[in-house]
Amino acid sequence: MKTLIKNIKKLVQTENKIRLKVCGKDMASINSIDNAWLLLNNDKIEDFGEMKNLNLDTLSIDKTIDATGKMVFPTFVDSHTHLVYAGSREIEYIDKIKGLSYEEIAKRGGGIINSAKRLQDTGENELYQVAKLRIEEIISQGTGAVEIKSGYGLNTEAELKMLRVIRRLKETMPVEIKTTLLAAHAVPFEYKGRQTEYVDLVINETIPAVAAEDLADYIDVFCDKGFFTVEDTDRILMAGIKHGLRPKIHANELDYSGGVQVGVKYNALSVDHLEYVGDEEIEALLNSETMPTILPGAAFFLGLEYSPVRKMIDAGLPVAIASDFNPGSSPSGNMKFMMSLACINYKMLPEEAINAMTINTAYAMGLSEKLGSVAIGKKANIFITKEIPSIEFMPYAYGSNLIDTVILNGEVVVSNC
Ligand code: NIG
Ligand code: FE
Repeated sequence: MKTLIKNIKKLVQTENKIRLKVCGKDMASINSIDNAWLLLNNDKIEDFGEMKNLNLDTLSIDKTIDATGKMVFPTFVDSHTHLVYAGSREIEYIDKIKGLSYEEIAKRGGGIINSAKRLQDTGENELYQVAKLRIEEIISQGTGAVEIKSGYGLNTEAELKMLRVIRRLKETMPVEIKTTLLAAHAVPFEYKGRQTEYVDLVINETIPAVAAEDLADYIDVFCDKGFFTVEDTDRILMAGIKHGLRPKIHANELDYSGGVQVGVKYNALSVDHLEYVGDEEIEALLNSETMPTILPGAAFFLGLEYSPVRKMIDAGLPVAIASDFNPGSSPSGNMKFMMSLACINYKMLPEEAINAMTINTAYAMGLSEKLGSVAIGKKANIFITKEIPSIEFMPYAYGSNLIDTVILNGEVVVSNC
């Protein structure tokens, strides 16, 4: 099946040579082609170019889409979510409005522990159905690949249940999915005061059980003040790596936790959140293959410090942006809104934000050879915008749905036109 998209006002984020990530000052530029065409062959990008060089005689086309006035982007890649969960937590949102902090809510048995209780009582099928709806929503908002974490199970059986739900989503949904085991998301209620025993359980029981069923790609730990220590993280990452799980961790959201350094030590694919980043963290990241990832939705929703993104980019680092879609700190997986937050709150240029949520998040999912840009041979995952004046209009019009058509694996899965 060959699909030709023609008369594209701007074909955004094109690459002739595939790059794994974009760093430092290079983040401020995006390759694009004005007045372009794009040819999809089944689930792959076959070719693209300028309209004046389109030779229809040599192509056999099954379907043509006219994109006059519209732009084409590679779909967003969301490299950090917790979108399998049972029930929303808007009551805590009100507690927050009244002045309680994230840590105070967690201490009262709210937060992650609250979600864990609800998830343990919910069946696999129901969890699948609600997560499926969330994935359908983010697809309609332009996301074509998503990482999903466990971490609301907090015992081996419930973590396995979450991961089996993610496996079923992987098998049935058109988005590309990567799975991360986050058993060390919080210390479960019944282990209060016995944190090391819970870490032992994760290492000796949960990780081997997950690996035996091949249910995860990556291992995560919430390494932060009031949650897991550097020593806990060290032990868990080592155990995960022994079972073939590369780290991708939560770090430095609530304090200078040492999370960045321990992540880099174990060659984490990414370290995520990063509200607390100073010279030492930047230095560690500069000599690494670890993608610094910010989560603007969580910082916005919780009213946290903003990560020093300008400082990181100016130091030559790459930066990725993900949604953190979860019921407690970021109840939205809308990547276009994350783009607006990144530009407004972190002073990122639209081009930097686009690189951060396409190619750099693809890197943070181990997928930049097949997603994150428009390049020959990459997956045919793209979206067509409504008629828009410029790429800057995407983050500028922060409340408008500007996505017209979403194509995943070469097939139209959303059409608003
Ligand atoms: O990434 N920071 C840790 N975990 C999630 C929050 C999950 C929750 O509150 O349910 C996050 O923000
Ligand atoms: Fe998270």
